[in-house]
Amino acid sequence: MKTALIYFLVTTAHFVSAGPVNSEDRVYHRFVKFPDSEGNLHNVDLQAPVDQKLVDEVNRNPANNLYLLYTRRNPINPQTLVLYNAASITTSNFNPRVPTVVIVHGWLGNQNSDINPVVRDAHFVSAGPVDTEDRVKQRFIKFPDSEGNLHDVDLQAPVDQKLIDKVNRNPVNNLYLLYTRRNPVNPQILVLYNATSITNSNFNPRVPTVVIVHGWLGNQNSDINPVVRHACLNRDDVNVIFVDWRRLASSNYITATNGVPAVGRALGQFLAFVNLINGVPFSQMHLVGFCLGAHIVGYAGRELEGRIVRITGLNPAGPLWNQNSGRLNPNDAIYVEAIHTNGVMTNLGDTLLLQLFAILLDMNAQTLAFTHGIGAFALNLTWATMIWEKGDLEGSV
Ligand SMILES: *[C@@H]1O[C@H](CO)[C@@H](O)[C@H](O)[C@H]1NC(C)=O
Ligand SMILES: *[C@@H]1O[C@H](CO)[C@@H](O)[C@H](O)[C@H]1NC(C)=O
Repeated sequence: MKTALIYFLVTTAHFVSAGPVNSEDRVYHRFVKFPDSEGNLHNVDLQAPVDQKLVDEVNRNPANNLYLLYTRRNPINPQTLVLYNAASITTSNFNPRVPTVVIVHGWLGNQNSDINPVVRDAHFVSAGPVDTEDRVKQRFIKFPDSEGNLHDVDLQAPVDQKLIDKVNRNPVNNLYLLYTRRNPVNPQILVLYNATSITNSNFNPRVPTVVIVHGWLGNQNSDINPVVRHACLNRDDVNVIFVDWRRLASSNYITATNGVPAVGRALGQFLAFVNLINGVPFSQMHLVGFCLGAHIVGYAGRELEGRIVRITGLNPAGPLWNQNSGRLNPNDAIYVEAIHTNGVMTNLGDTLLLQLFAILLDMNAQTLAFTHGIGAFALNLTWATMIWEKGDLEGSV
């Protein structure tokens, strides 16, 4: 797993520029290893004979390219667009009023290459992923906890309403742990409606604040706490607040899901309280939520009327959320992004997560350039892409 991501990073770094510069090329090796569209290495003979007949054929007939159109109305089964055949375009689902993304595969690739569904779906997913489980309304699914261990989940399990009511009545149930460069390891506890807990802490309202929310079955001891925290603190002088909502998170998936609004609203109220006490602006707050935590930060953002500058959903939980209007959505913050690593992170390694988060932090500057936006980032062993602004989404179907 770890190796896979590093491989991904390395290949991307090498091939993003218009032409790769690699040592093979420089010394004119005749035989090189080169990856195909799926990232499998092949032996390449750089002096192999050219099939000039094939090249000529393609030159004579530009119609050799196959153009497959996908839209939200046909996200799976493409319509074929044909050069110089107007009807193939006018009678298709092609909508000239929304942006068009053209994806071209690489060597040994074709329409069945991973890059097609991966990049395509990254464009079609909104802040919440659409997964097949939800579509077919399966009752029993496997779903990963905060550490990536798969659990059997019964999507019709009874909801523990008593627990949810308790959390609703008492927003103080969330535990807020503050880490700064002065206390990177031992947190200080911030308490809602206790101003002293904030004014007496190391909280510095003049630097940005990153809020991290764990997912289902997680708590402050989950991997994401030290991993993401260190990634943030190593990079910038920031306040890191880790939200421990274990009380609900440790219940069954359905109960945890049903409790998300209460936990999220409480987080929103807490951030409003902090803002009131020390003046830390919402424009300097970045909320990061994993799995169910992604929807929690969505609710927190909504509680603050979308004034938070940035929300990042990492693998926003899909089951019971895809059709749920309360899911993380583009209006929850000034900039909302969803990062999907569907399937890859079933065994969420520290290194993988750290690398992923580092990519995110690196995208910071770019992100702040979006005044209002939404991004989606799909990571699948060999492919990644960073996509669109909200303006595009609004024009979409
Ligand atoms: C508020 O927080 C301070 C500092 O953490 C603590 O000493 C105090 O006991 C708290 N007050 C209440 C009423 O909990
Ligand atoms: C990568 O993408 C392919 C094509 O969409 C998909 O079949 C595969 O399951 C994905 N792999 C992972 C690990 O998500």
